[in-house]
Amino acid sequence: MKFFIDTANLAQIKEAQDLGVLDGVTTNPSLMAKEGISGDTNVIAHYKAICDIVDGDVSAEVISTDFEGMVREGEALAALDEKIVVKIPMIKDGVKALKYFSDKGIKTNCTLIFSAGQALLAAKAGATYVSPFIGRLDDISTDGLGLIENIRLIYDNYGFETEILAASVRHPMHIIECAQIGADVMTGPLSAIEALLKHPLTDIGLAKFLADHAKANS
Ligand code: G3P
Repeated sequence: MKFFIDTANLAQIKEAQDLGVLDGVTTNPSLMAKEGISGDTNVIAHYKAICDIVDGDVSAEVISTDFEGMVREGEALAALDEKIVVKIPMIKDGVKALKYFSDKGIKTNCTLIFSAGQALLAAKAGATYVSPFIGRLDDISTDGLGLIENIRLIYDNYGFETEILAASVRHPMHIIECAQIGADVMTGPLSAIEALLKHPLTDIGLAKFLADHAKANS
């Protein structure tokens, strides 16, 4: 399973990259705003800075909601760096834009996926990735991981090559269960990725090894 980090924070992206397990980055307009990035020039510069750090796909989201606008924005974003994946919302013009970019060989990530039907449509349109938001479904007492299972089944039934990118991941159990189900990618915060490495018995065991070594060598 590929690990993407879901942030526009350069320090966190660098930390995840340095850990050696990072396969890509996802951003969205809210994450860009959280970092105080605004204005076309700054946004473009920020995407370039992210691409310079990460060795993998970088999702950059369009703001337009009409087909022509998405094409214009998406082509400009894709021209920035070969790592850029154009992130398109799951709306009617978005589906048309997915097909347009797919035909041109430009990678896409269809975002704001909350149902299996939306994921099926995005795959039919040739999306490279679909992003089901599992945390936001859990937030409204709906089974986010169940949606990943349904999409996995549908894609496997027909051999769709669209990759399932589990998004809105909130904690390490989301990551582990996504891996069990067979999500192709997960994107989450650095905290969820780092939480995977923690176990109290590891800390206790290491302390004992080091103490025994120190005793034997004193
Ligand atoms: O990749 C989508 C993600 O950014 C949404 O996460 O935590 O805002 O639901 P969240």
